[in-house]
Parts: sequence; C-alpha cells; structure tokens
Amino acid sequence: MRIWCLADILPESEALSRAVELLREGAAIAIPTETVYGLAADATNGEAVARIYETKGRPQFNPLIAHVADIAMAERIADFNPLARRLADAFWPGPLTLVLPHRAGSGIHPLVTAGLDTIALRCPRGFGARVIAALDRPVAAPSANTSGRISGTTAQAVAADLGARIPLIVDGGSTPVGLESTIVRVSDDGIALLRPGGIAAEEIERVAGLPLARGAKGVQAPGMLASHYAPSAHMRLNVTQVEAGEALLAFGPRRVAGAEKAVALRNLSESGDLREAATNLFSHLLALDSSGAATIAAEPVPLEGLGEAINDRLARAAAPRDS
Ligand code: TXA
Ligand code: MG
Repeated sequence: MRIWCLADILPESEALSRAVELLREGAAIAIPTETVYGLAADATNGEAVARIYETKGRPQFNPLIAHVADIAMAERIADFNPLARRLADAFWPGPLTLVLPHRAGSGIHPLVTAGLDTIALRCPRGFGARVIAALDRPVAAPSANTSGRISGTTAQAVAADLGARIPLIVDGGSTPVGLESTIVRVSDDGIALLRPGGIAAEEIERVAGLPLARGAKGVQAPGMLASHYAPSAHMRLNVTQVEAGEALLAFGPRRVAGAEKAVALRNLSESGDLREAATNLFSHLLALDSSGAATIAAEPVPLEGLGEAINDRLARAAAPRDS
C-alpha cells in the first residue's frame, strides 16, 4: 500500500524550534514520548485541541491528558494533595498520569477536560518535556493514531496512519515503554486505578503506602472503550493450541501446540520478560495484523506487574467491534 505523507519527519535533534513554532500556530503534530507517540497541541488553544479530535476521528466527550514540563507547571493547573505530590516526585518525568482537581483559571481549554472538574496531568520524559518547556504551555496529547487503532510506537507507524493529516512528525525512534501511561485518580479518599499502563500498580502502591482501588466508576476513560485497541484481524486469547491459518502472538520460551502451523509468529518476549513484552506489544500486533491472517491467536501472558496492562490491551483488541 502506498501512503501519501504530507508530514515532515524530522529527527529530535533538529525538530525543537519547528515543533514549537507549529504548536504556537495551533497545529497538531506528532512527538515521541517514552510511552507512545503523542498527537500534541497547545492545551490552552481550543482550535488546536479540536484539531486533535478531528485528526484522530475521536469522539469529543473523551477527555485528554495535559502534558507538563515539570511539577511547577502542573501545580498551576491542578490541586496537589500530599499524596499526589509524593507520586509526582517519585514518578515524574515518567509514564504516570495523575487525575486531580482542576484549578480555576488554569488556562486549559475546556475541550481538553470535556467538561469534567478534574484534569489528567502527566510529565513525559525527553523530547516531550523539552518542547513543552520551550513552548511554556501545557500540551494535550493523546496517542498519535486514528481513534480505535493501535497506538504508534515508531515515527513510521505514525506516518502510515496520520502522515497525510499532520504537518510534522518528530522522530525519536522506538518509544522505550511501548504502552500508554498508567492513570490514577488521587483524592483525599486515596488512589484509584483508572487505566493500567507503563508503571505497574504495585510500584505505585509501594510509593503511596496504600492499595489502589480498582474497578473505579464514574470516569469513562476512552482507553476503557471495549474495542479501543482493535486490529483488523480477530483475536483469540489465552490459546492452548494454534489453528491452521492463524497468526501467533507468543510469549516466553515454550510454544503452544500447533505453533508450527502459524502463518506468522511474533514473540513478545522469548525470555518471558513482561517489560520487554509491553514494549513489543503494539508493534507485534501491527505486524501480525498486516500478515493478512484472519485471526491472531495469543498465548497466555501472566497477570502480574505489567502483565495486567498487556492483558487489558489484548482484551480490548479482542472485544467485539461496534462497527
Ligand atoms: O502514555 C500516554 O498517556 C499517552 C502519551 C501520548 O502521553 N497519552 C494518552 O492519552 O494515552 P489519551 O488521550 O489517549 O488517553 C487519555 C486517557 C483517557 O483514557 C481519558 O479518558 C483519561 O486519560 N482521562 C483524561 N482526563 C480524565 C479525567 N479528568 N478523569 C479520568 N480520566 C481522564
Ligand atoms: Mg490512545
């Protein structure tokens, strides 16, 4: 398939001033973060934020994460209680998003929060933090992919999906974490896990010194839409056997029965390492999906640590499609 790509693709080392200039003009551009590529726009500019939804084809009621350069910028936007502050000190910059009470007069455009009185904040590592510091404004950035598709973890994947719709893709190579940030809501009642992600829940519990509430209600995170991470192929999970014609998403050193029949095979981690598996998840799904197999069979991945997020993403990829 030939893709018409409008976007300039610039390496990080050459992209900073162009990225800042485009963000100031209200463009939506793709930037690397440590988790996945983000489709970034000035969070204080409503037209720019609208461009994100338009580019992604995302339903407008889904709130976005506002990315900040540091804790000081975050504290001008949201109220941090001591627990929130402790988590930010421990995990920022990094793949943790905090949902906190939104301060009046923060300058954040309401399209970002979709009308909620809370706001999701994250301080990314690397180029993301540099571009936000240079812009001196928070940046809204959902994953850089068409709504419902697999999140882009390389500049090439972003170009193939959104290259015809955005002016710039900043190429920072493969994103090291490979899946989205963990989202927690922090209040005086404690911490609730809203979306498993790049930091294991156990690590957060260790720093917080209290358990995370699970199955939180009242917030509809789009990461929670059933078929959010949908490949075109059907998915069969926790398989014990591969059927003829299936592609196989493997995990660990041992193969399930019939693995030799698989028309394509990708192993999330030969050694059974969950961090490595998380990093490979979206790129392997994409590769197996493009093999043309009608079904992707996935071997079981243990539920501990980052395995929770991996299983969550796999379950979404396997969910029945709305359309
Ligand atoms: O790793 C990441 O988090 C990536 C990179 C680009 O930073 N970004 C990302 O953003 O995944 P997005 O927009 O795809 O996911 C935002 C998530 C959604 O599930 C949304 O519902 C949730 O954050 N969210 C945003 N504001 C919220 C709020 N006030 N309360 C609860 N959830 C919120
Ligand atoms: Mg996404």
